[in-house]
Formats: sequence, structure tokens, C-alpha cells
Amino acid sequence: NECYSIAIDGPASSGKSTIAKEVSKILNMEYIDTGAMYRALTWKVLENNLDPKDKKLVLKLLETTNIDFKDGNIYLDGKVINDEIRLNYVSQSVSYIAIIPEVRQKMVELQQNMARCKNIVMDGRDIGTVVLTNAKYKFFLTATIEERALRRYKELNQNGDKEINLKVLEEDIRKRDKIDSNREADPLKQAEDAILIDTTEKSIKEVVDAIVLCVKGGN
Ligand code: C5P
Repeated sequence: NECYSIAIDGPASSGKSTIAKEVSKILNMEYIDTGAMYRALTWKVLENNLDPKDKKLVLKLLETTNIDFKDGNIYLDGKVINDEIRLNYVSQSVSYIAIIPEVRQKMVELQQNMARCKNIVMDGRDIGTVVLTNAKYKFFLTATIEERALRRYKELNQNGDKEINLKVLEEDIRKRDKIDSNREADPLKQAEDAILIDTTEKSIKEVVDAIVLCVKGGN
């Protein structure tokens, strides 16, 4: 009974979640969006009117925080929070939470437990390099900053977040990538054994097909 995992990493709005979800459906595997976990804690921090940069208070809150996935939903302390965590003000603060090594340690541990003895697709920033170093397949998705900002713009518009400006969004993404790539603990980085896919001019289906083909072909 051999199980295997697929790690998908990349910068903000490179298409990871959409593609990982699709791939997991086609290959009948479980899917875990690790960004949602950092977002969930960030949302809770902001709900409690705490400063995301106040490490001590964030860690105290983390002690009494429960994050879980069930049937494609993310639960924070027993409550579904799929939509709240996608709001732009959460995106703007999440990197300050994800920079804290003790936060990462707990999230990585949770993620490794979720992946144990399961066929799983996991997406994030450090899946190939830290969380699932033994993943059978690793992919690193990129796209130009302009394309990624446009994707986020469309996504937020769809979700009814109307106060969005494309240029501001581009700056937000640039800033988030910079913090994620330069942090000390588990920075965003392509794993040496990951396959790089530039999604800029590719449709979702093209990227999904390429990944599925690679997995089914066994190479
Ligand atoms: O993937 P998503 O954009 O939802 O991730 C939100 C943020 O969570 C990232 O910008 C990053 O700061 C953090 N993150 C992380 N490690 C992961 C997944 C997400 O640090 N594995």
C-alpha cells in the first residue's frame, strides 16, 4: 500500500491552488492548500485586533488555535472560514505571520501529519523544500508579475471585493513575494528536483494536463 505526494510551490497568484485542486480531482488524491492555514491564523489575529508583527501575542493566540480541513473546507476553531481568508486585508498581513519560525514549525508539523499515508497534492511555498521533501513529484509554478496581479484582480472582483486597484494589487503581490522569498525560515524557493512551469501564457487546462501527464507517465 504505497502512497505518494505531489508538491506544488510558487509565488503569489501563480495558479497553484486552482491547478492543484484540479490535479487532485483527476488523480483522485486529497488536496491541502497550506496557504489557507497561514491565512486562517492571520484572519484570527486581525479579528482579535492584534498586530500581526507582535510575535509574542501571535504565538499566544496560536496555542489555542485549531486549524483543520474537511470536505474541501477549511475550519478555524470548528468554524468554516473559506471566504473570509481570501479578503485582501488578510493577504496584506499574512506574510508577517508566515515569517515567524514557531508558526511555521507548527504548520509544517500539521501538514506533515495530514500527508501521512495518503495520496496527497499539497500547494504552498515550502512544500518541495521543507514539508514534503520526499514528494514523488515536485512542481514550481511561475508567471509574470503583471499576469499574476491580473489573476488576483479577477478573483477578488468575483468574490465581491470591489475596493481593488490593479496597480496597488501588483505592489501588494511584489511585496508579499519579497517577504516570502527573503525570510530566514523556509523561504519561497524552487526545490532542486522540482519541475519549473511558467504559466503566463498557458491556460489552466494546459498546466493541469502537463502535470497529470508527467505523473501518469511516471517521470
Ligand atoms: O498561497 P497563498 O497566497 O494563499 O499563501 C498566503 C501566504 O501564506 C503566502 O504569501 C506566504 O506568506 C504564506 N505561506 C507560506 N508557506 C506556505 C504557504 C503559504 O509561508 N507553505
